[in-house]
Amino acid sequence: MKLKSLKTVTSSIAMLALGAGIASADEDAALIINGETEMVVRTEAPAHLENMDEIRSGWTFRSAETQALQMDDFDNPGMIFVDQAIDTWNQVSGSEEKSCASCHEGPESMKGLRTQMPKWNEAAGEVWTTEMYINDCRENRMGADKWGWNAKDMVNMTALIALQSRGMPMNVAIDGPAQATWEQGKEMYYTRYGQLELSCANCHEDNYDNLIRADHLSQGQINGFPAYRLKNAKLNSIHARFKGCVRDTRAETFKEGSPEFIALELYVASRANGLSSEGPSVRN
Ligand code: HEC
Ligand code: HEC
Repeated sequence: MKLKSLKTVTSSIAMLALGAGIASADEDAALIINGETEMVVRTEAPAHLENMDEIRSGWTFRSAETQALQMDDFDNPGMIFVDQAIDTWNQVSGSEEKSCASCHEGPESMKGLRTQMPKWNEAAGEVWTTEMYINDCRENRMGADKWGWNAKDMVNMTALIALQSRGMPMNVAIDGPAQATWEQGKEMYYTRYGQLELSCANCHEDNYDNLIRADHLSQGQINGFPAYRLKNAKLNSIHARFKGCVRDTRAETFKEGSPEFIALELYVASRANGLSSEGPSVRN
């Protein structure tokens, strides 16, 4: 990959109308959900992060109005989809005539899982995301059709699973058998893509807290996923978000579930180690 001079990078950024941060958000606000669950939205960066001292949840960059929507489950539009997922959880489906509940009992059996995702699957010999575990159960244990990566049932189910870990610190393993995948994801994070030749790091590490097209740039963390976006009024998967960001650099993007995005997910997840799992979060 050809390295660009700082000047060219600055001009790519300028094309996107990047401005100095004059945030309307209350960046020091505390995120306490339903008046009882206090979330860690700022903390010391994990040791592997060389260029940042502090990591911050995307929530701290949002406007006060958007922030408020995540502070109470009655206001969080993502919770409707969690309710739908509870029905799906109990629904018998496929040739084995089983539901998720037949084997896993209640969704609370998934407590803690979101904080480790994605993780090394010993039997498969590769890193798996939550979506892959769910589809493995559907296909091979229920005799049911796989769900599409961004299908409503799938994204809703990842929200129900994430909710079981709400408030627990992200704790993704990056060593052992997962290390090679993590290295691959890290390399992608610093690779410049597209006509604009911008890497994830150019925006989310070098320019977070600045304004880009009137949007307050965050650190691009994924501890809040799946995220309900006001923009498209639905829950969004991690890979759908990656796709949108890569497309914004005017590059051909990777597919949801591609080995590239799985590796990138592992790396990006590890950048949030220590922040609370927030899913389903609310973003603009
Ligand atoms: C041109 C600048 C730019 C680049 C390059 C870019 N993003 Fe983004 N990204 C944004 C903007 C703008 C948003 C919406 C505001 C925010 O949350 O930062 C965003 C949001 C996100 C979010 C949602 C954060 C949250 O809390 O909801 C994630 C995750 C993310 N980006 C990951 C990535 C990854 C991974 C890459 C590299 C493949 C990348 N981005 C490249 C501009 C960029
Ligand atoms: C026939 C029994 C069965 C059914 C039905 C089933 N699962 Fe599973 N599931 C398993 C087993 C067994 C594992 C592997 C457990 C392990 O290795 O720790 C598993 C693992 C998982 C995992 C990974 C958990 C972990 O700790 O790594 C997730 C997520 C999951 N299932 C979700 C679901 C969902 C969602 C459904 C319904 C759509 C479902 N499963 C239906 C038996 C089932």
